[in-house]
Amino acid sequence: MKQGIHTTAIHTGMELEPRDVTPAIHMANTYLFESAEEAAHAFETEGQPIYTRWGNPTIEVLERKIAALEGAEKAVATASGMAAVSSALLAALQDDGPKHIVATTGLYSGTFHFITKDLPHFGVETTLAEATDPTAFAAAIRPETRVIYLETPGNPTLALNDIAAIAALARARGILTILDNTFATPVNQRPIALGVDVVVHSATKFLCGHGDAMGGVVAGPADFITRVLKGPIRHFGGCISPFNAWLIARGMTTLPLRMERHNANSLRVAEWLHAHPAVAWVRYPWHPAHPQYDLAQRQMPGGGGGVVVFELKGGLEAGARLLNRVRLCALTVSLGDVRTLITHPASTTHRSVPRETRLAAGISDGLVRLAVGLEDVEDIIADLEEGISNR
Ligand SMILES: Cc1ncc(COP(=O)(O)O)c(C=O)c1O
Repeated sequence: MKQGIHTTAIHTGMELEPRDVTPAIHMANTYLFESAEEAAHAFETEGQPIYTRWGNPTIEVLERKIAALEGAEKAVATASGMAAVSSALLAALQDDGPKHIVATTGLYSGTFHFITKDLPHFGVETTLAEATDPTAFAAAIRPETRVIYLETPGNPTLALNDIAAIAALARARGILTILDNTFATPVNQRPIALGVDVVVHSATKFLCGHGDAMGGVVAGPADFITRVLKGPIRHFGGCISPFNAWLIARGMTTLPLRMERHNANSLRVAEWLHAHPAVAWVRYPWHPAHPQYDLAQRQMPGGGGGVVVFELKGGLEAGARLLNRVRLCALTVSLGDVRTLITHPASTTHRSVPRETRLAAGISDGLVRLAVGLEDVEDIIADLEEGISNR
């Protein structure tokens, strides 16, 4: 039966105990067998509860929910977003012979380091392709390219990859595409419907929504997800705690509702910043000042998301003054929370990315990242005005 996204977020994947209206939390590490024969049978049959690193009924609630929202056949939950990114890539690179990845320049710093520093130790070569230029991806492909890795909108530049164009050129060459959908969420952008094979998330962010549980997910074709589960998750061990999975699945019941407000508040804040005389530039996918506004309207039909980036005319110094003066906006390094969070990526999250690489990717020294929360937008704006003004 076709149903709306709010209904899917609330009802899908629950599998409730009799008379319960919320899923139980199964914290057991292992499960009792009634006989030696039953134990042996469980090891031969898919989906039997055996040991939580192999699968767990509470974790499966989260997995079914994200698979339904992303339109994927199957999903596997992980201990963090980085566990999702690394597990998906390791599963995709599980074959003999030379291996090469083409990745977008607009990467979260942890992913950037995993791809450019860790994977080369395992013999994997990488080429970074300019995020906004699909032809750069086509030009970077080699005969041994196994994966095209995308992140759109990118953290923190909000540069967009043209999903449909890049997925089509990858598919034509039999190359797997993996896309980090953390910033958009499936409420705003459905990469699998646009031709992408596999979606990953830092569930720590919008999926959880309340800043109190770390997690990640990989969603995609059933055979690929089974490969992620049976290889990297079981053997590198990045499985999620059932309690965190429960918190994230609970958060996801209000994901579409929260995203509507993240979208609306962020657009208002972007418009206000754009009109402010002390602001040098502002970028938000659904604001016409974004250089890829038309693409955002096409591939993010749900909205522009919950992150706005900008730079004050006084650059780094003025940005630091703002960060020190705001009271409502919390000075942190995360995003996707009910409360507004403010970050200076060049000195924190992207500090370890070489300055030249950072600047080339559009992360200027004075860039401020605002993860707009669900407060009354007038209060967020008043806090920013206090911080920006020279009073
Ligand atoms: C786009 C993106 N992907 C992945 C990650 C990693 O997620 P986690 O911190 O949950 O490991 C982050 C973290 O900020 C992120 O912003």
